[in-house]
Amino acid sequence: MLIPNTSPSLLHWEEGTPAPLWGALFGNANSLALEIGCGVGDFIVQMAAMHPELNFIAIDFYNKGCIKTCKRVDKSGLNNVRVLRVEARTFIEACIPSESLSMIIINCPDPWPKLRHRKRRLVSSEFVAYLSGFLKSGADFFFATDFVDYGLDVAEFMTVQPGLVNQLLPDKYTHALPDYPVSKYMRRFMDLGQPIYYVHYRRR
Ligand SMILES: C[S@@+](CC[C@H](N)C(=O)[O-])C[C@H]1O[C@@H](n2cnc3c(N)ncnc32)[C@H](O)[C@@H]1O
Repeated sequence: MLIPNTSPSLLHWEEGTPAPLWGALFGNANSLALEIGCGVGDFIVQMAAMHPELNFIAIDFYNKGCIKTCKRVDKSGLNNVRVLRVEARTFIEACIPSESLSMIIINCPDPWPKLRHRKRRLVSSEFVAYLSGFLKSGADFFFATDFVDYGLDVAEFMTVQPGLVNQLLPDKYTHALPDYPVSKYMRRFMDLGQPIYYVHYRRR
């Protein structure tokens, strides 16, 4: 049975029901930012505090992670974050208007190291092409991973994604992004001397 989550930061949405009215929910017309796979929420509270001009939607299909994220958001006093326990593709398709996001963040989405797991990784060239349709002109796309081959693969296919411009030129990726919070999950790898691969693109 699911542990109930009664946080005011949690937004219930189910497939087949109308999309949330974002402006009314946040109480302003600020632009939306989306974190896919927010984990336990330590990244989103830092990022949302740095960007009060944006309304953050933090999603994850992991219930305990959503509960922890909500607790962090509630404790922070931030009013520009809402958390949803949803699957990314289903939610985006139904609830995010095209060209409405100012930022998409995906940090370490697939924690499975085995070769046979690579096929089911979330971030592919096709998924990024799909996501780019939800970005406004000038919006940011961030991807981070602790897996070398995942980082190199994404860094490579991003160079030929139509309409997206590399913000790290002449590099395709970096191991340190200024002003980009580090999650506890990422910190664990960094402390072991394993670099994080960051990719940063912007919609033309
Ligand atoms: C390894 S954790 C990293 C969490 C966080 N981004 C961080 O850096 O601390 C990956 C998270 O992504 C979530 N996730 C992966 N694919 C997802 C999807 N398609 N929809 C929603 N959440 C997803 C998982 O449930 C998990 O909580």
